[in-house]
Amino acid sequence: LFFTSEKVFRLKPVLDEHVTLIKELAKDIEVDFWRPESPELVTIDIDVDIRVPAMYLDMVYTILQQNDMEHVILIDDLQTAVEAQAQGPTPRAHSYTKYNSWDKIQSWISSIASSNNGLISKQVIGNTYEGRPMTVLKLGRRSSSTKPAIFMDCGIHAREWISPAFCQWFVKEALSTYGQDSQMTSLLNEMDVFVLPVFNIDGYDYTHKSNRMWRKTRSRKSGSSCIGTDPNRNFNAGWCTTGASSNPCSDTFCGYSPESEIEVKNVANFIRRNKSIIKAYITVHSYSQLLLFPYSYTFELAATHSELLKVAEGASAALRSLYGTRYTSGPGAATIYPAAGGSDDWAYDLGVKYSYTFELRDTGRYGFLLPESQIKPTCEETMLAVKYIAAYVQKNL
Ligand code: ARG
Ligand code: ZN
Repeated sequence: LFFTSEKVFRLKPVLDEHVTLIKELAKDIEVDFWRPESPELVTIDIDVDIRVPAMYLDMVYTILQQNDMEHVILIDDLQTAVEAQAQGPTPRAHSYTKYNSWDKIQSWISSIASSNNGLISKQVIGNTYEGRPMTVLKLGRRSSSTKPAIFMDCGIHAREWISPAFCQWFVKEALSTYGQDSQMTSLLNEMDVFVLPVFNIDGYDYTHKSNRMWRKTRSRKSGSSCIGTDPNRNFNAGWCTTGASSNPCSDTFCGYSPESEIEVKNVANFIRRNKSIIKAYITVHSYSQLLLFPYSYTFELAATHSELLKVAEGASAALRSLYGTRYTSGPGAATIYPAAGGSDDWAYDLGVKYSYTFELRDTGRYGFLLPESQIKPTCEETMLAVKYIAAYVQKNL
């Protein structure tokens, strides 16, 4: 059992000394940063969620006490929480309300793409580092002329399981509500939606088979024994200038060069090739309940900041209307932390005018271990936000 007795703490640094202390702690012992994703991103007055191995618990308690740092325990026993995430026995079949393994998602992709309704097709945009095919599903009524499009990806980070679950849900909903729901019908008549259900397939597979808490890709390079790059630090947007690490062992390693990750290169090539038709880019992560837009590599405001904000606020309001779930929206750098090399900033600077990063549920009660019972409500409410953005884009073509 991998995570027995490990705990997830939420620390609340309110003094510079607290921030220094957290960074020192990260140097001395192996702490897994859940939010923010690395010690470099820790600042005063933000909540810091960290996973602490059992052998360091006494030490961490002592340090927190001695330094008067406010903290709460979010998850008391991580192994129990990992086991509790899946409710009921592992199903044999694919399910929209379960966290499906890559094998199940792969066969789901094949079968849904062959559902012969004239609304869906698939194309392989390249292979992952370990050789798995990256398949983009194209949704939209077939047309002789090229249609404007939206590109959406899920699963950039391996452990954020709710994200691929949302992409699968989106595809199902699009197909089943076409012809019923006037907004979806009009969207798929006028535009195409490209969906990449799992971006970081190797990492996702690894979280199912070996280490539930893996974040990065699985690429190796001689010179370091550490594995993987953070794909959301590997895009060519202020690459590795802020909020990223040049240490291959870090969870926010930016890679050896922009697009050094084959998965990043495949997606960037696809978007570049379809640059003239792609009007919006949506990328889905978890957790924190945020709707972010450029920029994250700089505090400067995007040229179209006020429009990006207006659409984000409309989308958040639509999302909240269903179950009351509150989202915060704003530019990445100012809303959470500066972090360069992200796909949203890269797509925006390429010319994709509407570029958004979702951080889905929750705000830390379960974090990456969001129970399967929350897949349905999370996907339902997120549909409203994505449809809001899509409708706005469609109206403003
Ligand atoms: N939690 C995400 C990450 O750190 C946020 C991404 C926001 N966008 C960005 N370009 N940093 O990867
Ligand atoms: Zn993420």
